[in-house]
Amino acid sequence: MSAKKFFITGGAGFIGSNFIISLLGKYRDIRILNFDNLTYAGNLQNLTRVETDPRYSFVHGDICDPGCVDSVLADFRPDYIVNFAAESHVDRSIECPDIVIKSNILGVQNLLGAALHYKVGKFLQVSTDEVYGSLGERGFFTESTPLSPRSPYSASKASADLLALAYFHTFGLPVNITRCSNNYGPYQFPEKLIPLTILNCLKGKKIPVYGDGKNIRDWIHVSDHCSAIDLVLNYGVPGEIYNIGSDNERSNIEIVKAIIRIVNALRPDLACSDALLSFVEDRKGHDRRYAIDATKIRQELHWNPSVSFETGLRDTVAWYLDHAVWRDAILSHEYRSYNRNTCEKR
Ligand code: NAD
Ligand code: DAU
Repeated sequence: MSAKKFFITGGAGFIGSNFIISLLGKYRDIRILNFDNLTYAGNLQNLTRVETDPRYSFVHGDICDPGCVDSVLADFRPDYIVNFAAESHVDRSIECPDIVIKSNILGVQNLLGAALHYKVGKFLQVSTDEVYGSLGERGFFTESTPLSPRSPYSASKASADLLALAYFHTFGLPVNITRCSNNYGPYQFPEKLIPLTILNCLKGKKIPVYGDGKNIRDWIHVSDHCSAIDLVLNYGVPGEIYNIGSDNERSNIEIVKAIIRIVNALRPDLACSDALLSFVEDRKGHDRRYAIDATKIRQELHWNPSVSFETGLRDTVAWYLDHAVWRDAILSHEYRSYNRNTCEKR
């Protein structure tokens, strides 16, 4: 049997790079082509430990560029396409709503057309629980919860999901959609709550907590998200949507305080304390609560998360504290020049 070939878009980002590393560790006879246009969030340093692996290759390309996608697929002929490529940050999408339209919608449509043309065995669209909108104090998102996106980012992801389903129903493209909750773990760009908090603790900088800090997110370790995607790719029923989550609802303030405690335990010299907390203006349209019901993937594909939140968070904090080279490169690069009040980082 010939080696299975994976065309992975956005593989230089947080989840994509973790996914590539996990696949190469798990399967011997595979080929991976990482296709990424290296936005501010794309970082090839996430992949230094696999860059010389003969099973792995990288192409610098944009999913919105039909000619580039076509020429790479014509040559590579993948069995699977896994689309991680996206503008993934809600705050940026609020400041500059147009940034999400191109990559998150038009890019996906372009990939779907190419997947159909090259008859890929499975197209997996990596989506998000944010397409379901915001929950009150009770209840969970299931796959049949109506779509109710409330930010430009989540609206763009919901649009992509609908396009992917349209390609399944209209053209028979074997598509799956995964909708996962908030990921944490190594290699996450420090614009997101957890790495931002850790890095601010390290630098003794204020930690911005939006609003009253009581918004709730449902956290999952990135390695558990990756194992779920792998299962859906192999065993997901075409046309089906799978929620992914591991039952770790936490308020933002709980998360930030937990990180401060862990940093203190690991690096008492930093004398990090709750004094770093800074309650700031709330995010516009801030979704109050997310909570995933992952019964379907647990029952139908026998997926189970394996990282407890307490262990995962401690290991994650330790990872960011230990990886000074990765950290310093990220901080000296684009993030420093990212200005929340402008649209300069398109
Ligand atoms: P990320 O921002 O860390 O990485 C995105 C990657 O996509 C980057 O490497 C970037 O260079 C690349 N990219 C962006 N536009 C591209 C384009 N036009 N062509 C090629 N490459 C492009 O994002 P992430 O957190 O790793 O998220 C990956 C995917 O998972 C996204 O689709 C996101 O919506 C989804 N998701 C993320 C989370 C989370 O908690 N981070 C949870 C659920 C779903
Ligand atoms: O739920 C899945 C989604 O999780 C993914 O689809 C997105 O790509 C990913 O970015 C993430 O979105 P969030 O908006 O939930 O993540 P973020 O880390 O930006 O924010 C988490 C919570 O923390 C949210 O309630 C806003 C709050 N927050 C965030 C930042 C960056 C703060 O209070 N302060 C901050 O500085």
